[in-house]
Amino acid sequence: MSSPRLRLEGIAAKLVRLRKALTIAMTYRAKPADGVAWVTGASSGIGRATALELARRGFTVAGSARSADALDALAGEAKALGGRIIGHPCDVTDEEAIERAVAAIELAHGPIALAFLNAGIAADWQGGRIDIGVFRETFEVNLFGILNGLAALLPRMRERRRGQIAVMASLAGYRGLPMAAPYGASKAAAIHLCESLKFDCDRLGVTIQVVNPGFVETPMTANQKFPMPFLIGVEEAARRIVDGMATGGFEIAFPRRLAWLSKFTRALPYAFYFPTLVRATSRDRGKA
Ligand SMILES: NC(=O)c1ccc[n+]([C@@H]2O[C@H](COP(=O)([O-])OP(=O)(O)OC[C@H]3O[C@@H](n4cnc5c(N)ncnc54)[C@H](OP(=O)(O)O)[C@@H]3O)[C@@H](O)[C@H]2O)c1
Repeated sequence: MSSPRLRLEGIAAKLVRLRKALTIAMTYRAKPADGVAWVTGASSGIGRATALELARRGFTVAGSARSADALDALAGEAKALGGRIIGHPCDVTDEEAIERAVAAIELAHGPIALAFLNAGIAADWQGGRIDIGVFRETFEVNLFGILNGLAALLPRMRERRRGQIAVMASLAGYRGLPMAAPYGASKAAAIHLCESLKFDCDRLGVTIQVVNPGFVETPMTANQKFPMPFLIGVEEAARRIVDGMATGGFEIAFPRRLAWLSKFTRALPYAFYFPTLVRATSRDRGKA
């Protein structure tokens, strides 16, 4: 016979599980029949692999990036796999070009049911001095590129009262990391943006998600000199992202071990955080 306290705890746990299940059930998750999927940064790395994974799972995919040739090659690869990806080249930093691309995609292929705002850069930055150009360029792509996409998508999704948008950020946006000020700050801003917009999107019937990967093997990480713990392959990353889109939870964070470690460091007080990071990275900085 369990004590009243244990029984109460059991009921509380059941209620939490029920609330979670209800939240997921009420969250809109796009299906191929609802419309097309749009992926930015589709010419390379995670965006390319995710576009292919979405096509494999039955979506018609519109892929955007600046390199038209790479998008053509991607379309060819999808066709060979029995999927459909159509290139819509554009620069995410150009607000009008993004609006035109979204209008053209919807005119040609129907409503965008699912968008993955993934395009991003990690500009070379040596630390030590504030190079405004590097910060501006990074924010133009990694934050304003997302905002340009949202500005084009949200009015359309609001009108349909339906849509799903996954925004690429990074575990590097959780806390300040050495040698990562422009990139990390842009990713922290992207996370904060999604958290804030979630309140509005929930009211509009639009699902917004933030994607926070750790290290993924792509051209972006190919020449990094620092160690990349728990590095994963790009196809695995794409599968995790598309699985997360299908589940509909707010955050898609992986690999799990690095995500939990990062969540733990996020909870550390500054007095512990800074010395811990200095100890953990000083050996690596010596190597780089
Ligand atoms: N790799 C990782 O370990 C990692 C970890 C966490 C988060 N991320 C994030 O994941 C995203 C994809 O990175 P990745 O590793 O796959 O890098 P990547 O292979 O270098 O791909 C970057 C993509 O962004 C596109 N892009 C860059 N600037 C653009 C612009 N102005 N307009 C349109 N497209 C633009 C590139 O296409 P074009 O050059 O053809 O325009 C390319 O398709 C980025 O946001 C990155 O910060 C990566």
